Amino acid sequence: DGMDKLAPAASGCPFHGATAPNGCPVSHEAANFDAFTGPYQIDPPEALRWARAKEPVFYSPRLGYWVVTRYEDVKAVFRDNITFSPSIALEKVTPTSEEANAILRRYDYGMNRTLVNEDEPAHLERRRALLHSFLPEELAHHEPMVRRLTRQYVDRFIDRGEVDLVDEMLWEIPLTVALHFLGVPEEDMGALRQYSIAHTVNTWGRPSPEEQLKVAEAVGNFWQYAGRVLEKMRADPSGHGWMEYAIRRQKEMPDVITDSYLHSMMMAGIVAAHETTANATANALVLLLRNREAWDAICADPSLIPNAAEECLRLSGSIIAWRRLLTADARVGGVDIPKGERLLIVMTSANHDERHFENPDELDIYRDNTTEHLSFGYGSHQCMGKNLARMEMRIFLEELTRRLPHMELVPEQELEYLPNTSFRGPDHLRVRWNPALNPERRDPAILGRKVDFAIGAPERGAIARQMRVAEMRPEAEGVLGLALEDPNGHDLPGWTPGAHIDVTVGEYQRKYSLCGDAGDRRRLQVAIRREDLGRGGSAYIHTAIRPGDIIRVRGPKNHFRLDEGAEQYLLVAGGIGITPIIAMADRLRRLGKSYAIHYAGRSRAAMAFLDRLKRDHGARLHLYPKDEGICLNLPAVIAAASQDAQVYACGPERMLAMLEDAAVCRPERLHVEHFSAAEALLDPSVETPFEVELKDSGLSVPVPADRTLLQALHAAGIDVPSDCGEGLCGSCEVQVLEGEVDHRDKVLSAAERAGSARMMACCSRARGRKLTLAL
Ligand code: HEM
Ligand code: FES
Repeated sequence: DGMDKLAPAASGCPFHGATAPNGCPVSHEAANFDAFTGPYQIDPPEALRWARAKEPVFYSPRLGYWVVTRYEDVKAVFRDNITFSPSIALEKVTPTSEEANAILRRYDYGMNRTLVNEDEPAHLERRRALLHSFLPEELAHHEPMVRRLTRQYVDRFIDRGEVDLVDEMLWEIPLTVALHFLGVPEEDMGALRQYSIAHTVNTWGRPSPEEQLKVAEAVGNFWQYAGRVLEKMRADPSGHGWMEYAIRRQKEMPDVITDSYLHSMMMAGIVAAHETTANATANALVLLLRNREAWDAICADPSLIPNAAEECLRLSGSIIAWRRLLTADARVGGVDIPKGERLLIVMTSANHDERHFENPDELDIYRDNTTEHLSFGYGSHQCMGKNLARMEMRIFLEELTRRLPHMELVPEQELEYLPNTSFRGPDHLRVRWNPALNPERRDPAILGRKVDFAIGAPERGAIARQMRVAEMRPEAEGVLGLALEDPNGHDLPGWTPGAHIDVTVGEYQRKYSLCGDAGDRRRLQVAIRREDLGRGGSAYIHTAIRPGDIIRVRGPKNHFRLDEGAEQYLLVAGGIGITPIIAMADRLRRLGKSYAIHYAGRSRAAMAFLDRLKRDHGARLHLYPKDEGICLNLPAVIAAASQDAQVYACGPERMLAMLEDAAVCRPERLHVEHFSAAEALLDPSVETPFEVELKDSGLSVPVPADRTLLQALHAAGIDVPSDCGEGLCGSCEVQVLEGEVDHRDKVLSAAERAGSARMMACCSRARGRKLTLAL
């Protein structure tokens, strides 16, 4: 075809002036990119920073692959596994010598399609047939074992003061768990570790000719070993393991679960299930121990562990890149790539893309979209074992933080990584501590303690930071102002007017809008009205909280954003609803916009911030204290306002309902903040069941009458983020491709609902029997 395609070369040869297979010239950086030495081995996401910035999809002549580096592009490739076939996922990156191939032949080596490298429609048929063992209730059976093993291994070294965690814990436990999960007897653990490393080098590495021979011997042995285990299992497939389950299912569907599949999966499964988890945990420990504050935070509050582990998977996952083959000409990130070309999609680069994650290079264990990382892949091939891996990582971290909070990395060690494109984790990880300070010597009771985590993606509800109450002062009758600071004096995350935080005190959790100065990174301010008829949270804060107390706070987050593009604004507040409104008013004043504030309350004495409002907003402020007989006539205020004015309102439901009626002709200009959404709650006696078809995952999930769509998705292993759980926040939004939605949220406008292209999974349902979602 006349294209100047280059074969991969081991080193040295400059590729200047080379042409990519689409006819375009190869840039200097692309020519120099090497996946096996140098920057990519030292710090993979950093090594591709240039690419994310200026050449997000490039051809690497040294590798012979197109490298995809941005979040959206990597996800788009994962999403379409027809155009971008995974068939090459387990192929050797480096073609082996004839001699090495002869060794493999001698062992009858026949690694073939499993799941991860299978095309449709075979892949999904097989995946669906074998999914059962990965459902949360099935995985729960493995939890006690993970806990027991972790305790046993830690017992062995806890009094020693120093250990190589990789050698003495992180390989063996995931390997044992993996064997147990698969149903393989626990023997030859040492050999299996060596086999796994050989398999990684064989598939994703660049072994020298001599190494290739050794690797081929090990891989050949691994293959034979897998075959022997399979034969034994076939003789009695009654056990609980996933492979035994597959053997049983083979009887019903021999064309879907083939002999070749079983043999290949036996070998691939051992690697998939343990090396990844061991490496991911080692990477997480490196990150957490290097960011001591984060480590200390999870020691103090283990409920942060699931999100911290997830954030570590984002920053430093154990599978950093994966492969796809183009089955047709396609455009990736604006670059035209011919059919037959190969892609290296670099998930770790995607996970560091600032187009998707704020401050992407920072470890922020409170980050609440960290689950959107691509370290488990995405779509119909997404890692089936992710929730087992998560469970193991969390239990390792929970036991280590509780029993060895004083542990640190041995400072002088240099971490070494096996050179390859895809699997990443340190070969060794030495940590040390002073055993005399082991907390269990002082207080043996901690040995019996544990924190159990729900199986699945981290729950946003648990992502809370500790904050100290810096100041408390009355803002009006029954209204208490609270200023909160970071206990260590650090800057707080920025926020925008309309944002709120979720405050957890005792057993209560409440949302409070931020009402201080949005530019102040040291303090967050809220004002809380005592509601004696409420559910008790506000009364508790008013009576039990003292300055200096530590409370748990989630956010800030904003579901009530101020659109700064308009020219005129009408701000309406009822009672304590003034809190987001005052922050908006301050912002509008600073922007020099035209606005008016209408603020109604019981009496002047009960209305918060009057002095501040009068001082800063003077003539724009209109007050309606009820006890003075001054009433807010909403229809009149709306009618008098300019047709272009954007209306922002927060207050009692009664007031918001009246506003909605008054604004009925121009609903798109009305923005309201609700603090509860009672009608979103599920009443199984009146609901009807329906089914959702998930386009990207190739699954069909039933949603019974007594479950929300969100719950049904989680039970099927699909990670959809969620937050409020009652249709207020918009974080559980999913894209609807087909079917009519019964919207019950408070997030979407009437126009957005009419389009039916989006829905909130936590509360909305199908009108008919079925919905198709882009998930
Ligand atoms: C697939 C990562 C642990 C079983 C995958 C894929 C990735 C991945 C990137 C390919 C996804 C795609 O093509 O979209 C990881 C990581 C792990 C981990 C980072 C640990 C932290 C596990 C465990 C198991 C497992 C513990 C088994 C118990 C599988 C299977 C597939 C897969 C069966 C193939 C799914 C399919 O193609 O349908 N994993 N994995 N993984 N993983 Fe994992
Ligand atoms: Fe908040 Fe669904 S989780 S809208």
